Amino acid sequence: TARLELRCAREGEAVLRLDAHPTLRVRRAALRGAPGDGGDPQPLRVESRPFASYGSALHVHLPQPLRAGQLLSLEIDYEAGEGPGVCWLAPEQTAGKQKPYMYTQGQAVLNRSFFPCFDTPSVKCTYSATVQVPEGFTAVMSATSWEKQKDNTFVFKMSQPIPSYLIALAVGDIVSADVGPRSRVWAEPCLIEAAKKEYDGVIEEFLAVGEKLFGPYVWGRYDILFMPPSFPFGGMENPCLTFVTPCLLAGDRSLADVIIHEISHSWFGNLVTNATWGEFWLNEGFTMYAQRRISTEVYGLAYTCLEAATGRALLRQHMDNTGEDHPLNKLRVVIEPGLWGVNPDDTYNETPYEKGYCFVSYLAHLVGDQSKFDAFLQAYVNQFKFQSITADDTLGFFLEYFPELKEKGVDSIPGFEFDRWLNTPGWPPYLPDLSPGEQLMKPAEELAELWAADSLNVEAIKAVDITAWRTYQLVYFLDKVLQKSPLPEGSVERLSKMYPKISKAQNAELRLRWCQIILKNNLEAEYSKVKDFLHSQGKQKYTLPLYRAMWGGSESARALAMETFLATAPQLHVNVQNYVKKILGLEVAE
Ligand code: BES
Ligand code: ZN
Repeated sequence: TARLELRCAREGEAVLRLDAHPTLRVRRAALRGAPGDGGDPQPLRVESRPFASYGSALHVHLPQPLRAGQLLSLEIDYEAGEGPGVCWLAPEQTAGKQKPYMYTQGQAVLNRSFFPCFDTPSVKCTYSATVQVPEGFTAVMSATSWEKQKDNTFVFKMSQPIPSYLIALAVGDIVSADVGPRSRVWAEPCLIEAAKKEYDGVIEEFLAVGEKLFGPYVWGRYDILFMPPSFPFGGMENPCLTFVTPCLLAGDRSLADVIIHEISHSWFGNLVTNATWGEFWLNEGFTMYAQRRISTEVYGLAYTCLEAATGRALLRQHMDNTGEDHPLNKLRVVIEPGLWGVNPDDTYNETPYEKGYCFVSYLAHLVGDQSKFDAFLQAYVNQFKFQSITADDTLGFFLEYFPELKEKGVDSIPGFEFDRWLNTPGWPPYLPDLSPGEQLMKPAEELAELWAADSLNVEAIKAVDITAWRTYQLVYFLDKVLQKSPLPEGSVERLSKMYPKISKAQNAELRLRWCQIILKNNLEAEYSKVKDFLHSQGKQKYTLPLYRAMWGGSESARALAMETFLATAPQLHVNVQNYVKKILGLEVAE
């Protein structure tokens, strides 16, 4: 049962339009008087109207037109089925393989298959939930408070207003362990030791640096839930409880940038929210910037520039794949409602992240002084916290905050117009200087050159000792090798033998690159690595590039793609399944 408490803002019609998914079956809807005024519930007529592949409008007919300021309490009895927002996993799809698991993933517009709601980031509300689960299961939610009552019933409350996409639930055989004064990790019992080891004692520093830079952390706790392997994202910033892929359990904390990223959403995205998915870069571009600010404070500028350089390489790859002029390669995407419009979920690509990062870096560059720009970011969060805003709000505030820049007309410098940043697809007109990472990138670049040479200079290669290289340095090296691939006959085999640290890596970022190299060099002897990697996890950003590479490759690579997809499809998130089907030219069920 969903209970929605609403206040009518404007004089309205007698029809309330909510978002739902066709798989959401409404059994009964009723109107209760204003909250607290007793009275019998009045039954209401509800119609579901198809709207787009990703949802339908639920028309709730009220007994009379709404008055401005009127309070409504709506009760909807419904059943959630096989919609894309609620994932039901069989025991074999979990790490422990003993018990089933369920979780929800709301972003961007999937929570309408979890509960009827205003499924737009422009609306924020508080929520509470009562969840009863079978014996032996635990429920967790993105909530500020959590209480276990009798009969395996969990009661959650989120006391801050949030958009619908941040409401999240997971139920499974999960346990927790403390890793800091306001943080714990949650995972299946077989992963909890590894989870604790990975992040014990490090989360608090990230939070503290975030608070120093961007202002108070308003969400109380910051906990992390390690998801089953098919979780489609690196991380999802559900407030109070980030959901992450178990791939982060690398054993050496090398993938903590994902955690820093999700923590950064505590200010950018969760407090100040993009009002529409067409301006998703407001969430992700600012978050990438914040992530790299925290990373710079914690790990230093060199390392952070190296990480940013791998991000830039991803943007390059993405633009090469899609063509720079693709309409999704604008920061402001036009999302037309209805059947033929852009599905908001399709805006998930590197542009809002890395081009968004470049735009925010450009704003910082205009200001010219890091501490002044940091102060601006803090003022921005304070100005718009708990609101949903557009890029015009952001840029308007920027110009007001720096009147001398406004006077200089920085919003219309030829080639760098704010309007161009927002509305022209393609490569960013400004790139932040990443040369402080040179000391880490240079050796990796030079080594890649050596490996790409027509005749291998084995002496020179052996003289380079990579044993002390950090994961992102290896990633950077592999990206360069990939760019230069196919390498001359025999070189990749040699590289594989020389660096078991890479070719036998367990780290997911390294495995992804190694698989890409295998495919680009059509190294059939190592195809099993591609297959194993795709069987072991279902993250979208790992899965799609590999299927694209296989499908664009040899006959045998195509066969590998089909075989692997047929075997793994049931484990993949439906959205990821559908994207893979598109790549493979298979029919996508609407
Ligand atoms: N909010 C996103 C994940 C997301 C985006 C879910 C769009 C659904 C639709 C999350 O914060 C994110 O960006 N995750 C990245 C982390 C990376 C940039 C460090 C990921 O999953 O790769
Ligand atoms: Zn993000």
